Amino acid sequence: MKPTQAATERAAALRGLLQDHAHRYYVLDAPEIADAEYDKLFQQLQAIEAAHPELLLPDSPTQRVSGSVLAGFAPVRHALPMLSIRSETDTTAGGAAAFDARVRRELGLAPDAPAIEYTCELKFDGLAINLRYEHGVLVQAATRGDGESGEDVTPNIRTIAAIPLRLMDCNAPVLEVRGEVYLRRDDFNRLNERQREKGEKTFVNPRNAAAGAVRQLDPAIARQRPLSFFAYGLGDVQGWAVPATHSALLDALAAMGLPVNGERRVVQGAQGLIEFHQRIAALRDALAFDIDGVVYKVNSRALQQQLGFVSREPRWAVAHKYPAQEQQTLLRGIDVQVGRTGKLTPVARLEPVFVGGTTVSNATLHNIFELRRKGVRIGDTVIVRRAGDVIPEVVGRVPGVRSIYVPNFHMPRRCPACDSAVVREQGGIDHRCSGGLFCPAQRKQAILHFAGRRAMDVEGLGDKLVDQLVDSGVIRTLPDLYKLASDKGRASLAACDRMADKSVAKLIAALENSKATTLARFLYALGIRHVGETTAKDLARHFGAIDRVMDASLLQLLEVSDVGPVVAQSVHTFFAQPHNREVVEQLRTVGIVWSEHDGSADRSPKPLASQTFVLTGALPTLAREDAKTLIEAAGGKVAGSVSKKTHFVVAGEEAGSKLDKARQLGVAVIDEAALRAMLQPK
Ligand code: IVH
Repeated sequence: MKPTQAATERAAALRGLLQDHAHRYYVLDAPEIADAEYDKLFQQLQAIEAAHPELLLPDSPTQRVSGSVLAGFAPVRHALPMLSIRSETDTTAGGAAAFDARVRRELGLAPDAPAIEYTCELKFDGLAINLRYEHGVLVQAATRGDGESGEDVTPNIRTIAAIPLRLMDCNAPVLEVRGEVYLRRDDFNRLNERQREKGEKTFVNPRNAAAGAVRQLDPAIARQRPLSFFAYGLGDVQGWAVPATHSALLDALAAMGLPVNGERRVVQGAQGLIEFHQRIAALRDALAFDIDGVVYKVNSRALQQQLGFVSREPRWAVAHKYPAQEQQTLLRGIDVQVGRTGKLTPVARLEPVFVGGTTVSNATLHNIFELRRKGVRIGDTVIVRRAGDVIPEVVGRVPGVRSIYVPNFHMPRRCPACDSAVVREQGGIDHRCSGGLFCPAQRKQAILHFAGRRAMDVEGLGDKLVDQLVDSGVIRTLPDLYKLASDKGRASLAACDRMADKSVAKLIAALENSKATTLARFLYALGIRHVGETTAKDLARHFGAIDRVMDASLLQLLEVSDVGPVVAQSVHTFFAQPHNREVVEQLRTVGIVWSEHDGSADRSPKPLASQTFVLTGALPTLAREDAKTLIEAAGGKVAGSVSKKTHFVVAGEEAGSKLDKARQLGVAVIDEAALRAMLQPK
């Protein structure tokens, strides 16, 4: 059947598109579309060519392994071409069964013939490298290039610690080992984090970062990217008896000191392949590196030779893919999220897309600078990546014409969670909410920090309890913590995970004890950005009183030893927020007292140690219970009746017989204000 005009034109268009994208991908290391999208176009062209063989031209992208030699590296002609493997795109169990059926058919096996033995491996998502060892010594490392010739990248590969420069117990004249160079996910995230901090371009994924490092002309730069390697096969071999099975080969390579991944299994038949595929699918997110599928290889070398090759692909191996970790989708909007530490992150609202095994509808855009560099705007088609347990991210946009003008996105000036001012440190990348203690997004973090051992030291106030207390609305601000001692507070505590009476009592005692603290601990407990323990001590020593810190001007803050502009600005901004000042005032009201003691190892001396008090009448602000706990926390005792041993009677309105008795015995009578003054450390 003669191809239609439409089919002819479509094939030509697809050839052009694929060539262009392959160039960007392999040569420029700057892909513009997701792999899955490239595969789709590739398969469309394959389908047209299969239906109309006369449209299959020798230079079609389907007829060769793409790639080319980068200028700057010496070309290396591979002694044996570096092949690729066929991909099974059916990501269900059917893909594995289809491969086994094909192998059996090509070997001419009867249906009742025994199961075929396979080696199953991971399909590492990095780049293929040929390592040439002569008499056990690494003499050359080359990229795959177009499969016939690659680039000599020996100096860069020699920086990879995992690759032995000399093999153990191998003196073969020639042994070429093939495998994958890759970047672990944690190394990749660290690399990108560093780039982000420097305000520099980030890498799209570990594979691109690894490819970039390997083909970096300066080995010193390559060294800064900690690459890794897994061996999976052989190239040219002279003077070495190749083992009879693929699994034995991998064991032999491992014995020579080469890294061979441990997640490999020898299995029998289709069922074994399916089980491996499923087992690794469940493991995929937890792996330290990206894989895009698994690889099945007929284990016996004799059978491999019998099966041979179709064009440039072995009939004895197949790659069985998993859902892609990168997909493209529509960017519908950009929200701003406030993190536990107050950092504002632009988050992409996406047309839901299936990526890395789950449906994703939100992805991080990291910060405004990265967003700008990527040039994404609402309405764009963007590339989303989700790998491992890392949160999904937008890694770029697919170039295209915007049909309407879309204004550039700006970070809000006020926090979307609490309306406090948003600030960015000079030269910094991140925008932050200055709401601190007041901001609901930062509440849990703020409470945990406040209660921490080195801060107010409230034992028994852990993650889970804070989650429950905040989620149920019992605690909104730090001062609320001290209301837990009330009857209502105790009841809410008891309701949390059915806390035992004893733990409730312990927590309340810990809270009471925490009220007598030092200025340094208190300043540290407030969780002011950049104010660690040492800075808190410096501030406490310099100013001596909380009010003086709160009212200090920028210049006054800068006079503190070891306080620079960033810290000074941060402290100043913190106390410029009315909410934060209010929190401090409320903490003062619940009875927090701070000594000027520098807060080093031990707590301040108890101001009311060995003093006995008797309470009578109604005090203006303190409930009797509260006054009692304050006195006790400060080391004093509260007795029920006045005697000669009583040191002070604290009298309020409508004080009765106890006041008369005090006067009779000549015991000092004080009011609430005087009590508060006594609570202050001497
Ligand atoms: S075997 C003749 N095993 O996938 C077979 N390849 O198209 C040659 N890859 O670029 C390849 N993991 O770099 C093989 N365990 C594995 C692999 C693997 C990743 C890559 C390889 C090549 C592509 C195959």
